[in-house]
Amino acid sequence: MVKAIVMDQTGGPENMEWRDIEVGSPGAGEALVRHTVVGLNYIDTYMREGYYPQLKVPNAILGMEAAGVVEAVGEGVSDVAAGDRVTYVNGPGTYCEKRVLEARHLIKIPDGISDETAAAMMLQGMTAEYLLFRTHKVQAGDTILVQAAAGGVGLILCQWAKHLGATVIGTVSTEEKAELARANGCDHPILYTKENFAERVMEITSGKGVPVAYDAVGKDTFQGTFDSLSMRGHFVSYGQSSGGADPIAPGYLGAKSASLTRPSLFHYTSTREELVEVASNLIGVVQKGIVNIEIGQRYELKDAAQAHRDLHARKTVGSTVFTV
Ligand SMILES: NC(=O)c1ccc[n+]([C@@H]2O[C@H](COP(=O)([O-])OP(=O)(O)OC[C@H]3O[C@@H](n4cnc5c(N)ncnc54)[C@H](OP(=O)(O)O)[C@@H]3O)[C@@H](O)[C@H]2O)c1
Repeated sequence: MVKAIVMDQTGGPENMEWRDIEVGSPGAGEALVRHTVVGLNYIDTYMREGYYPQLKVPNAILGMEAAGVVEAVGEGVSDVAAGDRVTYVNGPGTYCEKRVLEARHLIKIPDGISDETAAAMMLQGMTAEYLLFRTHKVQAGDTILVQAAAGGVGLILCQWAKHLGATVIGTVSTEEKAELARANGCDHPILYTKENFAERVMEITSGKGVPVAYDAVGKDTFQGTFDSLSMRGHFVSYGQSSGGADPIAPGYLGAKSASLTRPSLFHYTSTREELVEVASNLIGVVQKGIVNIEIGQRYELKDAAQAHRDLHARKTVGSTVFTV
């Protein structure tokens, strides 16, 4: 038996229960991993609430990301072996002390990267990678908009885009978050809780707007993000922390020949080859110090419900991890 955060019904954090579960042994193609650190991501709250349907209650375990040590592997597994330090994105099912999963999801953690950094960076960092290089190729000289710039994905996007030579405009809810975003490559933090951010984007870009806007806030920012785009701008809607945006008709985009994408990390890392490529690019920039993984909060895994409350209440900055 090991401990896990288990849900018997979807809903609020009060439905997250710390209790014993059974762990099997790895079958063909699988590995048993003892988690040392588990990552918290906003997607965990969508699954907890049932907004995304992947959490199959009862006896369902939340969580999409973790790091730890391989304890055993099943037949046919050659990429990892017992004793390897590994990290991965796969779930739901990571809010637990040990887990059996398909070994093809595992990435070995190189020396010099701690388990804590690995568990904090994989989902948010691989997201930043595909957003900046695959969904839209950000070029030196571009001015881009990043919503929720002091969040987990936000801080990584700011640093990496800045390294690529972009000018980064970012939105945040507080002065403290503005300072943090600025320290992480955001040239123009805007307090969207106080200012009309679309007007500020137009001022900063001398009325041109941005060629790409990354918006995972959703409902509250959708119109302003659209208003911030340049002619033929690219609206990358990759999440909905404030709730899902209202539907729009295709003709809406015609006002500026804009394009709208709704990408998901899982569609950019579905083959082993793609996963290894995206993960390696992320690991490379972290090893070189180009991207620093800012861990703003740490909780014990048994206190995951409190972390969910804090994330939802916009109290967190950067990435959040659970120690196991
Ligand atoms: N599509 C994908 O592949 C993909 C992958 C990873 C993440 N995502 C999405 O990216 C977003 C960021 O994920 P994350 O894990 O890095 O979370 P996060 O950005 O650390 O946390 C969410 C942030 O959103 C902002 N926010 C604005 N309105 C909010 C509201 N009404 N309620 C709560 N937060 C609000 C808050 O920042 P302020 O206080 O500054 O407003 C909050 O800190 C999420 O929407 C997530 O689902 C998508």
